[in-house]
Amino acid sequence: MPWWFFRRRSRPAASQTAPAIASGWLPGEVALPRLQGPRRYLQEQPYLLPKDLGEVNRLDFQHYALRAALRGNYLAPIVQPHRILDVGCGTGQWAFELAQQFPQAQVVGLDLEQVKAATSPPPNYRFVQGDILQGLPFDNDSFDFVHQRLLFLAIPLPAWPGVVQDLARVTAPGGWVELAETGTALEDWHPCGQATQEFCRLAAQLASLRGIDTDAVPRSLECYLEEAGLVNIHGQRFAVPLGEWGGRIGSLMALNVCEGWKAISAPLAARFGKPEQEVLALIEQAHREWNEFHTSCHFAVAYGQKPLTH
Ligand SMILES: C[S@@+](CC[C@H](N)C(=O)[O-])C[C@H]1O[C@@H](n2cnc3c(N)ncnc32)[C@H](O)[C@@H]1O
Repeated sequence: MPWWFFRRRSRPAASQTAPAIASGWLPGEVALPRLQGPRRYLQEQPYLLPKDLGEVNRLDFQHYALRAALRGNYLAPIVQPHRILDVGCGTGQWAFELAQQFPQAQVVGLDLEQVKAATSPPPNYRFVQGDILQGLPFDNDSFDFVHQRLLFLAIPLPAWPGVVQDLARVTAPGGWVELAETGTALEDWHPCGQATQEFCRLAAQLASLRGIDTDAVPRSLECYLEEAGLVNIHGQRFAVPLGEWGGRIGSLMALNVCEGWKAISAPLAARFGKPEQEVLALIEQAHREWNEFHTSCHFAVAYGQKPLTH
């Protein structure tokens, strides 16, 4: 059996349901796109960020900035993993690098949509389309390392424990699950000024309309791992500088965060009845404040191991 032939679980994917097809949803799509101004968003998904070329470029840029700031792609003490899964893989860049680092391993990236389909990924990488909110389409104990990064704008708070349990389910005994997130609480953007606080407040409110809690998630990662039955849990926080005061990484992260915030400026403006220019001006003001206050963006990373007797 080829290694990528993973059995699907019995629950039908959202794309196979009649109402979705009746509304123009193509089979094979797990989320219907919606255009808002020049940006393309996914409809019928809680995920707030756009899915378009601008976001592909930002995610790649963010990946390089985070890798430099965190001095690596992961923290878990993995040695020679044979099967690696990246959930919500985005552009796939993290998974491509793991595939290159561990050429003997089989690496799978799972996301709602494949981007960069035209580029040639490493030969030991495969993309699998799926929706973490519908359950992972893999058998129990399939992977030695399961990674999920920056889904805090995608997973409603009540779904988090079940999602992490599913990550643990597909992890082999002795294997590791790693989560990396940030949020919109004051602690996540510290120290910061008024404009940063105001933007975070609006973003958190927009997210909460979809059941997403951007304050709680980065502080709950260890708890989710523990509730999923994992052991040897370790959590760490990283402060990544924002702005030119923080040198090259600070400049890269400031650019990344500005683009990320602009990516939701239209939905924010529409939801709160503001002109989009006002939201864009708030972002510019926040950018200036990062240099004034020496603001850092704080990331929480946590990993845990599936017990051998699970
Ligand atoms: C902010 S991006 C992070 C991408 C990547 N993990 C990284 O760190 O570069 C979030 C990704 O999660 C994906 N996503 C959102 N909701 C999802 C879901 N329900 N199931 C699977 N992937 C999802 C999005 O399509 C997007 O690619």
